Amino acid sequence: MRKLFLRFNILLIVLSFFVACSSDKTAQITSPDGKITVTFNLLDDKPFYAVQKNGKDIVSASKLGFKLSAEDSLCSGFQVVDVAIDSLNETWQQPWGEEIEVRNHYNELKISLQEKAGKQRLLNIVFRAFDEGIGFCYEFPEQKNLKEFEIADELTEFAMVADDSVWTIPAYKGEYYELIWKKRPVSTQDTVTTPVTIETAGGGYILLHEAKLVDYAKMNLYPVSGTTLKADLTPWSTGVKVYAKPPFVTPWRTIILADNLNQLVNARVMLNLNEPSKIEDTSWIRPSKYIGIWWGMHMKKYTWAQGPKHGATTKNMKEYIDFAAANQIPGVLVEGWNYGWDGDWVANGDKFSFTKPYPDFDIGAIVKYAAEKGVEIIGHNETGGSTINYENQLDSAFSFLQAHGIHSVKTGYVNALLDKKERHSSQYGVRHYLKVIETAAKYQMMIDNHEPVMPTGLHRTYPNLMTQEGVRGQEYDAWSQDGGNPPEHTCVVPFTRGLAGPVDFTFGTFNFTNPVHPQTRVQTTIAKQLALYVVIYSPLQMASDLPKNYMNNPAFEFINLVPVDWQKTIVPDGKIGDYVVTARKDKYSGNWFVGAITDENQRNLTLKLDFLTAGKKYRAKIFKDASDAHWKTNPYPVVIEESEVDATSVIDLYLAPGGGTAIILKEL
Ligand code: NOJ
Repeated sequence: MRKLFLRFNILLIVLSFFVACSSDKTAQITSPDGKITVTFNLLDDKPFYAVQKNGKDIVSASKLGFKLSAEDSLCSGFQVVDVAIDSLNETWQQPWGEEIEVRNHYNELKISLQEKAGKQRLLNIVFRAFDEGIGFCYEFPEQKNLKEFEIADELTEFAMVADDSVWTIPAYKGEYYELIWKKRPVSTQDTVTTPVTIETAGGGYILLHEAKLVDYAKMNLYPVSGTTLKADLTPWSTGVKVYAKPPFVTPWRTIILADNLNQLVNARVMLNLNEPSKIEDTSWIRPSKYIGIWWGMHMKKYTWAQGPKHGATTKNMKEYIDFAAANQIPGVLVEGWNYGWDGDWVANGDKFSFTKPYPDFDIGAIVKYAAEKGVEIIGHNETGGSTINYENQLDSAFSFLQAHGIHSVKTGYVNALLDKKERHSSQYGVRHYLKVIETAAKYQMMIDNHEPVMPTGLHRTYPNLMTQEGVRGQEYDAWSQDGGNPPEHTCVVPFTRGLAGPVDFTFGTFNFTNPVHPQTRVQTTIAKQLALYVVIYSPLQMASDLPKNYMNNPAFEFINLVPVDWQKTIVPDGKIGDYVVTARKDKYSGNWFVGAITDENQRNLTLKLDFLTAGKKYRAKIFKDASDAHWKTNPYPVVIEESEVDATSVIDLYLAPGGGTAIILKEL
């Protein structure tokens, strides 16, 4: 032991980033910029960690370890048998994303523990400190006295030092994270799911989440005492949390520490803690915009099932393809094209066929017509939560789509439980989703996954995982009994769910009349609908309204032109739940796009264009709420203005109640 720490101390001299090693039970690591410190401690032979930023406690001594069964824990009686340090400073390129270049710069500390008595089992804890925050995971190395095992409970805690406000949604109380985010003190939470975003009293932000959720259960959090949050893993129906066999690694637990919203949105800790892409040739992976008969079905104009109002007919598809081709929209999504929708498809998900189209859907003719017009069809595989049925057909489902020249599929798992038994965010669900992503990659298929487990940055490893739902999206504005998403909702999503990964929210409403549920509606103005394409990120973005509602509306130009792949992203202004201003630079040009949105309150904001390249001129085209616009009473009027601007310009923004502004800054 001594020897090990001696070796460790010698290393200290060489590696300046490792700041202290006060005893054989304490080790510390700092972020490359020296601001964030993670301290590991063995107190009474139990492992603990703590986090500081700028010398101030953020997370005080917090427990680590596991309960393997009612009588057996792996959390005490440890000694440190090895300490290893490492670091990395690299930049890698995303095939698509909110920015091209990602810096992956961290210092790593790996503590190897062994039980001093009994079975003398081994457990490693790996910490990484980035400038933006930290991550840690557990490794169960191959060993004599731990073969196949179960995790009954993960004991990880996050002892937050302050009772700050935190934005959360409850775990277990709703399905697939389709809930409204609420702000409460840390100490008063129920069990909530991560990510959770804490607003600190000092004006900073702390994001608790996880990265690389593979073959494990999703982490939720609940307060155990005061402001200490503890991990809660979504269980299997057996009550067991995780079935494992060494060598076994858990997902990373992540803590992002940001001084402002721009830093929060630009932290890439979760992505960096995932492995590099396993897909070598990513040339077939292409972000795009799409339209579809989807909104028509949610508005009951069409049905998924066969019948007089069947939506996925050859005729309807050709009309949508014509509109897409005429308006430079690359994709058309089709739902309800395959057998299985008739009757109660949620209860009978095992009846879905993923290779048998309905007779009025001539897939050969449709894909040929689309190809002639340069439009791609996006397929749809709703499973009704029957993963067994889907897995049995997975290869044939994807090879069927591939044979028809289809490269994207929206998957869906509408059901409270998978296979009537297991939760979506259990290890069972996590295993299934990964199997789908991996199989899809074999068939060069991009995935838009609905009713998912919460994203954790896996799209770095599998960039064919384009976007996911896992949010209370626009469909709630079609039928939700509570009237739809309140205007505040989209001012929260970018800083909570949106930080976990791309969001398939499906905005684009231009007609606010709801013929089926008149009390339910999209609670925004048109200008806010436009701005959302910039504010909420996804590499696949839907223009969800019926084509007839877009025709002859000059505001549609913004949806036409807004990119879905970016060079750079900044958040010049915002307050979670109140308003957001986001600016993104197009990946393929010098043009910038700005989206500004507000909650139910009207707002005047000042936007400095100092992010533009100094010395260059830009033509600003501004799509803004008219002075009498209001999400409830007058959502339609959009004023379009043009002017010449540069990096010294300042634009005064007026956002109507529930409104927004969308701006194109075209480099001249
Ligand atoms: C729920 C999905 O979120 C929605 O987009 C889809 O249309 C329906 N399920 C049917 O699969």
